[in-house]
Amino acid sequence: MGLKQGEINQVYEFFGKNPLIYNATHRLEKLRKAATASLELNPRCSVLDIGCGTGLNFPYLYRIVGEKGKIVGIDLSGNMLLCAKKRIQTNHWKNIKLVFGDAAKARFKPNTFDGAIATISLSCVPDHLQAVANAFFSLKKGGKISIADGKQFSFKPLNLLMPLLRWNKSWDSSKNIIGDIKQAYPNSPFTLKEFALGSQFILTLTKI
Ligand SMILES: C[S@@+](CC[C@H](N)C(=O)[O-])C[C@H]1O[C@@H](n2cnc3c(N)ncnc32)[C@H](O)[C@@H]1O
Repeated sequence: MGLKQGEINQVYEFFGKNPLIYNATHRLEKLRKAATASLELNPRCSVLDIGCGTGLNFPYLYRIVGEKGKIVGIDLSGNMLLCAKKRIQTNHWKNIKLVFGDAAKARFKPNTFDGAIATISLSCVPDHLQAVANAFFSLKKGGKISIADGKQFSFKPLNLLMPLLRWNKSWDSSKNIIGDIKQAYPNSPFTLKEFALGSQFILTLTKI
């Protein structure tokens, strides 16, 4: 069973105070690059980063949407958002807005975003399906949501190694994000890619 939202927040308030630890242990460059590419965004597009944390996705997103695009990051940890704010200031990005809030409760207006991304964040949002529903609601027609996260290895015996690999206790191994989304969005086209022997995935869902 996963942690409660309050316990998850404690984990990230700690990481937000110690961003060097977080950033060094959550680089995931290949995953971030592939997840942002799967959104098929163009310059001037607008994109929502769900559970944006310290803003590690921002350079990847900004490279695509450019200075005329728009990036909104939402997160429930004030300390993680402070790190994201510093990153924005250091890079002189003028078009990235941060929202403090619960992604499962915050509703943006419909037709707001061309894409939404959630990298290793949905696995620690207790009501992950509601967070996806809220992002999906705010997407424009044809917009995509890209969910990059961890899962159990496809080759089951390797899962004995999970406690070593997923040392961050906010990761809920009992969640079946892929299965839940397939069930909740049976008519939405999606692509699924697996990495790292099936222990990481990128699921990209299109709003039709
Ligand atoms: C593992 S971090 C991922 C951060 C970032 N997406 C990344 O790729 O580095 C998980 C993030 O989800 C945030 N989070 C947890 N529950 C949340 C919720 N209900 N709403 C919004 N953010 C949440 C945490 O505060 C944390 O910053």
